[in-house]
Amino acid sequence: MSVTGKIAIVTGAAHGLGKAFCDILLKNGAKVGLIDLNIDQGQKALSKLEEKYGKNKAMFVKCDVSNIKAMPESFQAIQKNFGGLDIVINNAGVGLEKRDDWEKTVDVNVKGTIKGTILGMEMMRKDKGGKGGVIVNISSMAGLNPTPSGPVYAATKSAIIMYSRSWVHNPELAPNGIRINILAPAFVDTPLFKMLENKENIHAPAIATLVQKKVGVLKPEVVAEALLELLADETKTGAILKIAETTGKEYLTL
Ligand SMILES: NC(=O)c1ccc[n+]([C@@H]2O[C@H](COP(=O)([O-])OP(=O)(O)OC[C@H]3O[C@@H](n4cnc5c(N)ncnc54)[C@H](O)[C@@H]3O)[C@@H](O)[C@H]2O)c1
Repeated sequence: MSVTGKIAIVTGAAHGLGKAFCDILLKNGAKVGLIDLNIDQGQKALSKLEEKYGKNKAMFVKCDVSNIKAMPESFQAIQKNFGGLDIVINNAGVGLEKRDDWEKTVDVNVKGTIKGTILGMEMMRKDKGGKGGVIVNISSMAGLNPTPSGPVYAATKSAIIMYSRSWVHNPELAPNGIRINILAPAFVDTPLFKMLENKENIHAPAIATLVQKKVGVLKPEVVAEALLELLADETKTGAILKIAETTGKEYLTL
């Protein structure tokens, strides 16, 4: 799918990867609705994108994706404003998991992604008045490999893979023009990644350091290029695109 002229929603769009995804979508002629719970950073991201790409091509909507009851309103506001929906990127994610403080990670990463997928399917499927579209769910290398530094984070990221891959095999999707893909980056230089420097917030920091040496650290712009490739290449329907700085891109299906 060419993204030119398409309407996209990106969750967790105020920072890091989400911001880079919005940038590349706008650069390639899409309109983008930014969803984030951080109003200040969301507005700042929107202003920067407007400076680069002009007004009325992007909008910001505040929403906490762990509050799944609030999500429909935010998705509908973007669909209404731009007059349609073609692409949903369920990107919002957190990684903190102190031993007694991990439930938010499940709520944001798993519940938020599931609800975003359901909304995307409902709003874009042809038998419900949509034109079809693409959903990309953001997992991680941690969803594909045991991750001693973040067992809860790894569990949420593998849940995203199996939830998405299960939908890929649902026979209702193709006739309704819905495609679902998964993007699974290794370490990326974002505020979430910097969390690894705070050894109190992760387990087995020495192992995290070793893994980092092995896989390297990607720039968000490189992952955004991979997202664009995934959106464009319809032959990779349903695939997981794994990307790491040292090993590059690899398509998997599991
Ligand atoms: N940085 C990495 O090394 C890395 C690697 C693989 C996958 N990922 C995944 O990429 C995605 C983006 O991560 P990032 O590194 O850009 O992180 P980040 O912390 O830089 O950005 C995450 C964004 O999500 C927003 N957010 C957090 N909780 C939210 C909520 N409840 N509702 C709405 N928005 C919320 C934050 O405000 C922030 O703008 C995440 O799903 C993460 O798991 C990151």
